[in-house]
Amino acid sequence: MLKNPDAATPQPTRLEDYRPSDYLIETVDLDFALSPDRTLVTSTLVMRRASTAAVDAPLILDGEEIDLLSVGLDGEPLAPLQYKVADNKLTIRDLPASFTLTIKNTCAPAANTALSGLYLSNDMFCTQCEAEGFRRITYYLDRPDILAKFTVRMEAEKAAFPVLLSNGNQIEKGDLTEGRHFARWADPFPKPAYLFALVAGDLACVEDSFTTVSGRKVALKVFVQPQNTHKCDYTLDALKRAMRWDEETFGREYDLDIFMIVAVDHFNFGAMENKGLNIFNSAYVLASPETATDQDYETIESIVAHEYFHNWSGNRVTCRDWFQLCLKEGFTVFRDQEFSADMRSRPVQRIKDVRRLWAHQFPEDDGPLAHPPRPQEFITIDNFYTATVYEKGAELARMLKLLLGEHNFRKASDLYFKRHDGTAATVEDFVCAMEETSGRDLTQFRRWYADAGRPTVSIGAENNEITLTQNTAPTPEQSEKLPRHIPIEYAAYGAETGAILQRGLIELTGESQIFRIDEQSERPVLSFLNGFSAPVSLDQNLSVDDRLVLMKHDRDAFSRWSATHGLWKDLCLSFGGVNDGAFDKDAALDRFTEALGRAIATADKDPAFTAELLKTPSAAELTQTVDTIDPDKITSGRRHVRSALATALKQPLQRLYDRLHNNASYSPDASHAGPRTLKNAALGLLVDAGEDPLALTQATHAAHMSDEAAATAALATSDSPLREMALDRFYSKWRADPLVVNKWLAWRAVAPGPDALYDMQALLSHDAFDAGNPNKVRALIGVFARENIASFHRADGEGYRFFAEQILSIDKKNPQLAARLFTALECWRKLEPGRKAQAEKILTQIAETSGLSSNLYEMTAKL
Ligand code: TRP
Ligand code: ZN
Repeated sequence: MLKNPDAATPQPTRLEDYRPSDYLIETVDLDFALSPDRTLVTSTLVMRRASTAAVDAPLILDGEEIDLLSVGLDGEPLAPLQYKVADNKLTIRDLPASFTLTIKNTCAPAANTALSGLYLSNDMFCTQCEAEGFRRITYYLDRPDILAKFTVRMEAEKAAFPVLLSNGNQIEKGDLTEGRHFARWADPFPKPAYLFALVAGDLACVEDSFTTVSGRKVALKVFVQPQNTHKCDYTLDALKRAMRWDEETFGREYDLDIFMIVAVDHFNFGAMENKGLNIFNSAYVLASPETATDQDYETIESIVAHEYFHNWSGNRVTCRDWFQLCLKEGFTVFRDQEFSADMRSRPVQRIKDVRRLWAHQFPEDDGPLAHPPRPQEFITIDNFYTATVYEKGAELARMLKLLLGEHNFRKASDLYFKRHDGTAATVEDFVCAMEETSGRDLTQFRRWYADAGRPTVSIGAENNEITLTQNTAPTPEQSEKLPRHIPIEYAAYGAETGAILQRGLIELTGESQIFRIDEQSERPVLSFLNGFSAPVSLDQNLSVDDRLVLMKHDRDAFSRWSATHGLWKDLCLSFGGVNDGAFDKDAALDRFTEALGRAIATADKDPAFTAELLKTPSAAELTQTVDTIDPDKITSGRRHVRSALATALKQPLQRLYDRLHNNASYSPDASHAGPRTLKNAALGLLVDAGEDPLALTQATHAAHMSDEAAATAALATSDSPLREMALDRFYSKWRADPLVVNKWLAWRAVAPGPDALYDMQALLSHDAFDAGNPNKVRALIGVFARENIASFHRADGEGYRFFAEQILSIDKKNPQLAARLFTALECWRKLEPGRKAQAEKILTQIAETSGLSSNLYEMTAKL
């Protein structure tokens, strides 16, 4: 794309330029006089020069959007000539080897719409410092390899802000004059500034406790707005299970006497692992049977666990620099995935994790934003909180576990935590620990961290000789790709009997490799990548017959699902006129219908798994499968296959529905959620078979949100004449609950047909929407751009124009959010020529707009 002509081009930061800091901070004492318009911050830093630094090395502190009042050195004020403030840096020269610096500055929380640094959410002060938000609070060495012990004092008006929180333990509190009060907190663990947090507000607290494996009692406190105290039980329950699981599975015990979670409504991400004081997007804390779905409960469980697990993988052992982000994020996602697998169904968890990887990470690999899990350079680190860092990072940890085996993997993890406790580590440190405990050479495996893009593994078979070949397409910054170390779990099944003939783990390391299937009495059908053992694409060219064999006989649940889902995708594309002629589509659809019918008949064995089998590939998912995106073809093919299946299977689906539907009281655990999800998957298909009144009945009489939302969602994505009625009913019932209203916004955003766009325009000024709340922006604009392919990709380009207008207006308030939403256009080069030209026009327009944030600028430069 075009470079922005008039902005001062932001310069990238490079991994190869990493240097340890010339100065270190031993202790930080922060004092906040909190006030919405002008908060006064006094920071006292006890510092010393590093032994490796030159004697005359200047001290350069980071600071952004703050006003400096004064600087003092060892108790004496510095004259203005002794320091310099320019380009978001405070530079001080001629410093002694050790000294105390006192910095006074102000910041403006009420004006902070970027939600980074100190800001206000619903009249409550809160902070978000990862990645580089601390510099928006005070001048500091804002880099993750500077670890210091923090003490914090804050004062505020007592009536409006009765609760005052920070990291660690409260050591003092008291009243002041003029209706103000104060609290002091001390965190005994040295930490980087990005883990600092402060909260002040009118909050209610729900309490519980946990006794650690060594018998220490930890107070658990969840702080929410007073009207939400009845929605915290599940969060506390998930937290206690996560704490126990981390002791049992990774040998990690909690280390403070108190662990706090605070829910805030305005938040750029899911949640944040600040030491001892996690701050959460309220969508991932608050749940009650009336307002939250099974999926909401599941998401809360995994995010609570994720942030808790960071206490070791992220906080006790942190990152040396932001290029190492996947060290904490990839490993922690892997840990939360394993936790969820142990709490629920392991195969279903794996299917969901892989679907998420396909939906978010594969498009990154395949487009202009492709980058390695450990990138080489960035302009804004905020833009690198990506699916590649998180989800692919998790896959790399998973492959290491597979290659090392459970025992050695745990030993390596223990060594890593022990060796690097209290320090800032690198990906290399992590891999070294894996290498040392296992004795394996991981030289080639390291390419997974350094290289962008995704290998395709092609399977060629000649008699019993199987050739595996790997190839990785070039990516924007890396044209030459070397072979990677790919663990491939496989099995061979008899085409007639389904008997298991052979199975094993192939480690593909060369460009190609041959292995033999033993002589068999029946033709073998090969199943590769069982459990999705490596994040690669598979090019196997299985016949429809062979895929039906795997759907029926594969012993690996993931592969059984992926045979099913893959055939379903191919049918949608085939009926839409993409990849036409690859197979006899009518015959294949008949046999697929039969196979799904068998799955419905045996659904009771594993209802949650059967529900996954019944989930139609989404339109968004289909766009990722094709080389050239034609939204019309995808939409029509998908609709055709879905309604053909639903019509043919109507009777068994109806029986399944009748058998599973009940109005029993709600319990969120997996044993209840599984059958419910299956029933609602059946309902979704039944709506397409003309049973839409059934959905409206369920929505109206539902005993809990899982049933209510599923039924409303089924109508919301259909052409049913009951659609509007169902949505209106839902909104009038829930208009006062902002989190529930977000579901409604997302359903409006996926309205079928190209005219949905006019509805979008109207919704921008609806009561339900609020452009200052990221959850609402994501529910409406984000869902529209990612999921409503008919309307977003309108042939006349109106969808793109609407989107661009929104992005530019969001960028003025919240650059992180704007840049993230903008990635919905990462697929633009794959669009059919007409739409591609429209998208390019819009991209050029955005790129040429003056005053873009550096976040959005970086995205336009790459797209
Ligand atoms: N570290 C957070 C996590 O658990 C990510 C995060 C929260 C974040 N808030 C953020 C990243 C704001 C960037 C900006 O994954
Ligand atoms: Zn994380």
